[in-house]
Amino acid sequence: MSNYSLLKPILSFLKCETPDAWIDEAKKPENLKLLLIDHMICELKAGQSAMFLIRKYAIDKNSSKELLAWFRPYEDFIYKKQGDLASLEQTPKLSKLIVLKATPNDTLTVFTQELVDKMIMLIKEELHHFYQVLEIMTKRGIEYENITAGRYAKGMLKHVKTFEPAALVDKLIIGAYIEARSCERFAKLAPHLDDDLNKFYVSLLRSEARHYQDYLTLAGQVAGEGIDISERIAYFGKVEAELITSLDEDFKFHSGAPV
Ligand SMILES: [Fe+2]
Ligand SMILES: [Fe+2]
Repeated sequence: MSNYSLLKPILSFLKCETPDAWIDEAKKPENLKLLLIDHMICELKAGQSAMFLIRKYAIDKNSSKELLAWFRPYEDFIYKKQGDLASLEQTPKLSKLIVLKATPNDTLTVFTQELVDKMIMLIKEELHHFYQVLEIMTKRGIEYENITAGRYAKGMLKHVKTFEPAALVDKLIIGAYIEARSCERFAKLAPHLDDDLNKFYVSLLRSEARHYQDYLTLAGQVAGEGIDISERIAYFGKVEAELITSLDEDFKFHSGAPV
């Protein structure tokens, strides 16, 4: 599939394109460090939110522990500055089988296995992306530093409904928007970066496009047959576009228009 056909559904799903002013800011060499650190944290967060979803809705206690242990080295790196590229390479991969809850949450029934399979695959990919960003940083001598979170994800999550299954549907729709926006930004920013980063960002398009599609499909499945979620999708599309186009003083990977 060409990059154009990958991006076409994403560009029609998103309610706006990334403003050129954001690209101008993101391609400045002095912002590269912040961009890469924030990108690396976004990969961890993408993995974490997928983990939270399946821990909350789908899997048994032991599997939950397995998942937490799988994430720990990555979390220790970000939150405690422990470890490095070499130690992360040594971290055990997820080996045990993930087992579903004996009585899955009412929210999920026939699609529980599908949710788990898709999310485990997504987590593997996000943690690999995390490793790849750290590899690039290490090669360039860019040291990791703590940074604050931007407003983007919070700005959408505060609109999540408080009852099920609407809450899960909303979270899945938000997941679709975050993945779609990441894909759009990687594609738009890539040509402005050096060869190495350009190649890396283009290589991420395919998986992020699939993550977007998986979240959207799951949202429809969880809502249930005959339930139309297009209004909810349009609602979050508006919220997301507002966060992307309105002024934002805090430059980050998902920030709004630079002031
Ligand atoms: Fe990713
Ligand atoms: Fe992703």
